[in-house]
Amino acid sequence: MAESNKSTVLVTGAGGRTGQIVYKKLKERSDQYTARGLVRTQESKEKIGGADDVWIGDIRDEESIVPAIQGIDALIILTSAVPKMKPGFDLAKGGRPEFGFDDGAYPEQNFEKLYETQIEVETSQSNIE
Ligand SMILES: NC(=O)c1ccc[n+]([C@@H]2O[C@H](COP(=O)([O-])OP(=O)(O)OC[C@H]3O[C@@H](n4cnc5c(N)ncnc54)[C@H](OP(=O)(O)O)[C@@H]3O)[C@@H](O)[C@H]2O)c1
Repeated sequence: MAESNKSTVLVTGAGGRTGQIVYKKLKERSDQYTARGLVRTQESKEKIGGADDVWIGDIRDEESIVPAIQGIDALIILTSAVPKMKPGFDLAKGGRPEFGFDDGAYPEQNFEKLYETQIEVETSQSNIE
């Protein structure tokens, strides 16, 4: 743990609907948690107060998220890409539209990426210590 009695918790998607709430709740419990947020843009960072504990990064870009992950005790994944309608749907023909994500943005891919990055960071830290 980064501080003796406190858990350092990183919330991804901290600028989103759910992430904002979780990040705020963690900050309110600063006696128990050291909150960190991960957002994608400066705009999202400002939206949640712009504090130094908010990192900017894209979970598809490992290098950009390593600083936020270093030293954490827990990771709350509230990042989500918005599904897009696949081309070819014709309302006149009836049927149902199909939805999907851009390559690399599927929720399971995002989860795997974060998980792998966290393991890599932890492994490199334990090699240093
Ligand atoms: N809202 C609900 O009622 C609810 C209920 C149960 C479960 N959930 C689940 O909770 C998760 C979050 O939902 P939400 O409603 O809070 O979604 P949201 O408001 O769309 O927030 C998602 C956040 O993810 C960020 N994001 C997307 N792609 C990213 C990437 N590649 N790298 C970094 N950040 C990225 C977005 O950042 P930008 O702002 O920069 O685009 C956005 O702030 C989802 O998995 C959802 O299924 C939501």
